[in-house]
Amino acid sequence: MRLGVNIDHVAVLREARRVNDPDILNALYVACANGADQITIHLREDRRHIQDSDVKNIMMHSSVHVNLECSIDRKILDIVAGVKPHRATLVPEKREEVTTEGGLDVFGSEDAIGYAIELLHDSLIPVSLFVDPSIEAMEKSKDLGAEMVELHTGTFANLFAMLNSNLGHSNHSVKELELPRYELSERLEQSLQDIKDSAIHAHKLGLEVAAGHGLNYHNVHEMMRIEEIIELNIGQSIIARSVFSGLADAVAEMKRLTR
Ligand code: PXP
Repeated sequence: MRLGVNIDHVAVLREARRVNDPDILNALYVACANGADQITIHLREDRRHIQDSDVKNIMMHSSVHVNLECSIDRKILDIVAGVKPHRATLVPEKREEVTTEGGLDVFGSEDAIGYAIELLHDSLIPVSLFVDPSIEAMEKSKDLGAEMVELHTGTFANLFAMLNSNLGHSNHSVKELELPRYELSERLEQSLQDIKDSAIHAHKLGLEVAAGHGLNYHNVHEMMRIEEIIELNIGQSIIARSVFSGLADAVAEMKRLTR
C-alpha cells in the first residue's frame, strides 16, 4: 500500500502565528525519511494552511511524488498547471467548512470537472477525483477522463469512531450519534461494502484507486483488506499523534500498519 502523508496540518499550526515554525520543509524531510511514499497537500482557495510558496518549495525538495489537492476554481487550476505536481486530486471546497466534507459532485458539476481535467491533462498532469463511494460515481469518473479515484472514507471513519468511542476519536458533530448501536453497526458495514464495491468496480474500469479522509491508527486495517486500493492519504491522525510521539514515529507507525 502506498502511504500519502498529508502535511497540511503542519501549516495550520504555522499559520496560527504566521511565522515559519513549524517548518513545513522539515515535516517533508521527516515524513519522507520515515516511510511516506507520497506527500499530499491541499492548496485551498482561502490559503488557510498551505501557501503558494509551500507548493513550490515542496515540489522542489520532495524526494517522493507530490499529490496536490485542489478545487476546480480556474485561478487555482492555473497555479496547479504551472507547478506541475505528479498528480492533482480534485476535491470539493466550501469556504465555511472545517475540512473537505464529502466527495465531488460528479453528477451536478460534470462540465466544470470535465473542463478541469482537460486543463490539467493539457499540462500532462494525471488527475484523481475525490468521490463518494458508489458504482455510478466510478463510472462517471471514468467517463470524465480521470486516471484515478480517491474514495471518500469520511462516512466510514465517523461510524467507526462512534462505535469505538473508547478510542477517543468520535466526531461529536455528527447526527448519527443519536442512533442505536445496532443501526450504527449496520451503517458501518454498509459504508465498508460501498467502499469495497466501488474499489472493485473502479479497478475493473481501469482506474487506479486511492482512499482517504478520517483514516487513523485504529481504522486503517479495514482499508488494508481491500486489494484494489493501492494508496491511502492520511493527515489529521498522523499529525495529531506527532504532537505526543514526534512526526518520525507517527509516520513510521502508520507505514508499519499499511505495509
Ligand atoms: N484525502 C483528501 C482528498 C482530503 O481532502 C484529505 C483532507 O485534507 C485527506 C485525504 C486527509 O484526510 P485526514 O486529514 O482526515 O486524514
